[in-house]
Amino acid sequence: MKLLEQETHPAIVRTEQPQAAAPVVAAKGITAQYPLNKDLALDNVTFDLFPGELVALIGPNGAGKSTLFNILSGVNRRYAGSLTVNGTSLLSQQRSNFVAYMPQEGDIDWDYPVLVKDVVKLGLYGRIRRQGLQRLFSVSDYTESHTAAALTALKTVEMEELADRDIKALSGGQKKRVFLARALAQEARLLLLDEPLSGVDQRSEAVIMDVLTAMAAQGVTVLMASHDIAGARLYAHRVLLLNKRVIQMGPPEKVITESLISQAFGRSLHFF
Ligand SMILES: Nc1ncnc2c1ncn2[C@@H]1O[C@H](COP(=O)(O)OP(=O)(O)OP(=O)(O)O)[C@@H](O)[C@H]1O
Ligand SMILES: [Mg+2]
Repeated sequence: MKLLEQETHPAIVRTEQPQAAAPVVAAKGITAQYPLNKDLALDNVTFDLFPGELVALIGPNGAGKSTLFNILSGVNRRYAGSLTVNGTSLLSQQRSNFVAYMPQEGDIDWDYPVLVKDVVKLGLYGRIRRQGLQRLFSVSDYTESHTAAALTALKTVEMEELADRDIKALSGGQKKRVFLARALAQEARLLLLDEPLSGVDQRSEAVIMDVLTAMAAQGVTVLMASHDIAGARLYAHRVLLLNKRVIQMGPPEKVITESLISQAFGRSLHFF
């Protein structure tokens, strides 16, 4: 848990909190339980996410953060409560590539050789599908403009030099950057990132946070789980403090308080 490293954290400036509009995500009473567990993994979790918000999801190990991401991304459909994405069903938004999801492991196990630039082009396929052209399209139809768009996205995350490498030959932090490049290429409007900063070095962290801050400034909604409470104070518009239930949601200065953090984590963290 990175609590006392505020002075070494890259200088991220929080952009102004976006004006409230129609919610991008409206989650009401989300309740989930794994079959053999007696406790609920999520207990009546209700929150909204708005366009252009960067929201940090904070809570202890086992708080239900990954469970929530699996529900929001459609991986886990076994839950009670209601979930609306962009005013409609999650499924229809996934079809139009509105949502990009980075699982906690971040390390998709590619079982065939695939180049970094081709992983990013998969994001472009989302755009092609949005235009309803997918039945006519095969991978060999990617044009130079598609390649150029993939390289531009890779440049944004400072990964263009590794464009021709096999994705398997990248480090965990580099793969996370490639994922972001794919989400950029995809033009996703909702990013669900399960611990995108875990195990990455400070340079990667700075690159990732710069890209996320810029995307949020362009109206993209970002929900990211993090164990970096000090960092969340700097970059998040709002914090969703979770321990199976919502402990509190609001601006960092209202949520990252001694009493609420110890309520969520079950003990004082010697942070304040
Ligand atoms: N596949 C599973 N089967 C059974 N129980 C599970 C499963 N996945 C998670 N759990 C349980 O559900 C609860 C919530 O787990 P979850 O992985 O969502 O927590 P988390 O907040 O993401 O934790 P971490 O910070 O360690 O990533 C935990 O008690 C966990 O043991
Ligand atoms: Mg998790």
